Amino acid sequence: MGLFTSSLLEQVLTTTLYILETTTTVFNETFASDVIEGLSSTPKFLSSKYFYDEKGDAIFQQIMDMPSYYLTRSEYQIFDTHKQALLQLFGPNCTPFHLVEFGAGDGLKTKVLLKHFIDQKACFRYLPIDISENVLSLLTHDLEINFPTLEVEPLANDYFKALDILNQREQNERKVILFLGSNIGNFEHDQAIGFLQKMRQHLNPNDLLLIGFDLKKDPSVILEAYNDKEGVTASFNLNLLDRINKEFDGNFDTSKFRHNPTYNPLTGATKSYMVSTEDQVITLEKLGKSFHFEAWEAIDMEISQKYSLSTIQHLADKAGFEVTSNFFDKNNYFVDSVWSVK
Ligand code: AVI
Repeated sequence: MGLFTSSLLEQVLTTTLYILETTTTVFNETFASDVIEGLSSTPKFLSSKYFYDEKGDAIFQQIMDMPSYYLTRSEYQIFDTHKQALLQLFGPNCTPFHLVEFGAGDGLKTKVLLKHFIDQKACFRYLPIDISENVLSLLTHDLEINFPTLEVEPLANDYFKALDILNQREQNERKVILFLGSNIGNFEHDQAIGFLQKMRQHLNPNDLLLIGFDLKKDPSVILEAYNDKEGVTASFNLNLLDRINKEFDGNFDTSKFRHNPTYNPLTGATKSYMVSTEDQVITLEKLGKSFHFEAWEAIDMEISQKYSLSTIQHLADKAGFEVTSNFFDKNNYFVDSVWSVK
């Protein structure tokens, strides 16, 4: 009994340490080494995946509500217009399916589909995947209130680990993966292909992928979406400097940096840079590191790729998918592309 108790205690301690490590130290270590690598490089860069701390999440919510940020409204309109056609593709004649969403957020757009699918008595279950337990519990609570009959199974995990778990458990049910909001555009081209190839490896022949792409359009419309007059997008980018200050005891003075988005109509790359308005040295006490900025030196902060239909076709080919259908909003600003496995 004594032995059992001590080994149980050991197990609990090990698990607790592991949880503490994975939730605090390891994450911060990765963030720290990414910050050091990015600020020591020429040119300097920081990954936009670090935008999303609690404050960053709240600012992104504000961005999605802005009239100039057309992406959210366009995709909402696509779902509203084409919800029945989507249901026909996903689960015709009550064929059961798992609706799996990568990066669930507040589910605003997805709710249009969920409501329609429930009204049509579709045979499906909704599985939102997000690394944040907090995001998932807020979403699940909201869905319980709005759609009490909906079967929801939140998966707080890395996207592909969650798919592994799902694949081990159920092999026959069709999976329909939602990857919305042109989140794919925050990857560089080669990274996007790598991500989609990995997605392909996690899918069975009958599964589908619905993926949102922001399309090339009038450059002024795109620039306005990333350079709103109210400065919300600027504060979204500057918040990463504040986050670095907070987590690594840094002295970034955000008034000495300027948000500078650009759009290249040849490549479709929308890039956000943070430009130092003067020669300055930034010190991150906790990391024991200082970084020199020349006047007007830039940090590469984010890519938000805009696509042509031929590039979308190319991505699908490269990753082993077939483009089944494309759904557009009325302005042709955005496309939700449904892919099947080749
Ligand atoms: C999340 N992602 C698709 C957004 C985008 O449009 O690239 C993030 C964003 N950055 C500035 N505004 C919104």
